Amino acid sequence: MSDRNQQFQPDQSDLLMELLAARRDVRGNLFLADELDQADIDQILKAALHAPSVGFSQPWEFVLVLDKVQRRQVADSFFAENQKALEQFRAGNYDAAKLEQYQALKLEGITESALNIAVFYNPKKGPVLGQTSMPDMGRYSVVCAVQNMWLMARSLNIGMGWVSILDPEKVKTIVNAPADRELIAYLCLGKVDQFYDQPELETLGWEARKATSQVVLSGHYPE
Ligand SMILES: Cc1cc2nc3c(=O)[nH]c(=O)nc-3n(C[C@H](O)[C@H](O)[C@H](O)COP(=O)(O)O)c2cc1C
Repeated sequence: MSDRNQQFQPDQSDLLMELLAARRDVRGNLFLADELDQADIDQILKAALHAPSVGFSQPWEFVLVLDKVQRRQVADSFFAENQKALEQFRAGNYDAAKLEQYQALKLEGITESALNIAVFYNPKKGPVLGQTSMPDMGRYSVVCAVQNMWLMARSLNIGMGWVSILDPEKVKTIVNAPADRELIAYLCLGKVDQFYDQPELETLGWEARKATSQVVLSGHYPE
């Protein structure tokens, strides 16, 4: 039994920071065909179940998708939605070079990864402690679980990618989710031969990492 009251040491804190900085969103071009070990999948799911949740409601559910036909259907939804995304960028007056760059991005690894996990929000009927004023808190709790999975996967040297360019209703149908469930995340997991040093979108010049001074304010926003 581990001591949950232990005092962590600075080198352990440094290790956590290293892990946080080394976590990457992994897309199709980096996944290997190898299967994942069941013990690793269990460990990633265990990490999810240790996430914080509003009112300890634990409003998450995880559908493990291995079937190739289901995955192909999800990938079809991605391609359809990504076409719509391109239209939005076109309508948003992005220049030709940026549009070309968008088209060249690999934004999912649905069929290349060993395992897909559809993560759902299962809303509780009736009031939830802590969620009475801000109804999205249950959804945010599910996101906390996803982040735990991402970090645990990285610590096991397993790549994970989050695909959100999907029609959530199509995904619900593909996995036969009850009507009241809400898709929060569609994840692709698998072994990889490398993790990039920095976000691919940073390397490609799509966005730059923000500095602390850009996002941390003292007391209030400027008048
Ligand atoms: C809520 C959320 C949704 C995302 N959806 C996608 C997606 O649909 N396709 C994709 O390629 N990456 C997606 N990402 C990954 C981000 O692009 C990635 O986290 C970001 O570029 C920073 O890179 P890093 O995760 O490697 O640090 C998503 C990330 C988050 C947090």
